[in-house]
Amino acid sequence: MKQVIDEGILAAGRYDDAPRLMKKRCEEALSFILGQIDRNLETFIGTFPSEASTGNVYRQVGNTEWTPAFWTGMLWLAYETTGNEKYRQAAEKQLSSYKQRIEERRYTNTHDLGFLYTLSCVSAYKLTGNEEAKQIALDAAELLYIRYLDQAGIIQAWGNLDDPRQRGRMIIDCLMNLPLLYWASEESGDRKFYDAAHSHVRMSAKYLIREDASSYHTYYMDAETGDPKYGKTAQGYSDDSCWSRGQAWGIYGFPLSYRYTGETELLDLTTKIANYFLNRLPEDFVCYWDLIFTEGPEERDSSAAAIAVCGLLEAAAHLPLTEPLKRKYENAALKILESLIENYMTTDVPESNGILLHAVYSKPGNNGVDECCIWGDYYMHEALVRVTRDWKPYW
Ligand code: GLY
Repeated sequence: MKQVIDEGILAAGRYDDAPRLMKKRCEEALSFILGQIDRNLETFIGTFPSEASTGNVYRQVGNTEWTPAFWTGMLWLAYETTGNEKYRQAAEKQLSSYKQRIEERRYTNTHDLGFLYTLSCVSAYKLTGNEEAKQIALDAAELLYIRYLDQAGIIQAWGNLDDPRQRGRMIIDCLMNLPLLYWASEESGDRKFYDAAHSHVRMSAKYLIREDASSYHTYYMDAETGDPKYGKTAQGYSDDSCWSRGQAWGIYGFPLSYRYTGETELLDLTTKIANYFLNRLPEDFVCYWDLIFTEGPEERDSSAAAIAVCGLLEAAAHLPLTEPLKRKYENAALKILESLIENYMTTDVPESNGILLHAVYSKPGNNGVDECCIWGDYYMHEALVRVTRDWKPYW
């Protein structure tokens, strides 16, 4: 493994030059994605793609996991970018399933309500003014808010709030669930959602991010006293390594909180986290599944790469013109994206109904290793929309 120094500081050279990626190539990639969505349109109406593929083919599953809305979100992206009503109709048909999940409290004991309801219902409301979707998303925000542990100032990620194995545990992925709370505060006028999200992001910055700008996947707080306990991985290589997707959730999640809070510390922290990530990319700019690996035969995680592209673009959008990292992050985002387009899409894998090859769901769990993962497909789609259009995030 290569020795990497200068934590938090971007190594010189690699991201200084503008990439070769052309808009035409991005539009071609988007057309391919639309073709795959068309191919899946009938299959995934009353059902959703599995979290990860098997042999690069998604199965049909119900609305139970943390992932269905990545498919619904792709339908909304397709509708927004083409204006074609068939995508809107397909997305709207799925809304009843999200409503039922909330009403019946099925698989709602999770912080992932943010992923689920931002990409299905907040998007529906933002794009079409659908009032029912707005209400469903507000109901979801109420359920997410229940998971806020006042004493610890964090949102518990997984499990029942009284489950001793999960009590007081926050995880870096949760940063992507906070926009639902910020949005709910804006729409309802109730500040409690904002306050919970704001406290959670500050605790994440303090405890999930290490001194060297790498991240713990998860961190335990004492829910009764509010004292910090210890970091632990769930999907990374080890407790003290840096899980690539976790770092990518940070690269995207912190600037999203900056968007709502305007706190410059969050943007400063984003640059350190992003630099740590960018300093560890292999030759082709697509990260291994854990950043402890920078070369060799371990699997890549293309989904983390796609998330990082969106995050780098989000961060760059907020950085001032005078900040040299702004241009470097745009360059880095395009270099990663170019590599994903050229080497990781399913273009030459006709049996696949996915978009991005070579993602990893959980290496320690031996689940979805070197497969398509539905969130990787979503973020690849979002990244391409971001670089070709003036796009307002659903987040
Ligand atoms: N949020 C779950 C994962 O990234 O695998």
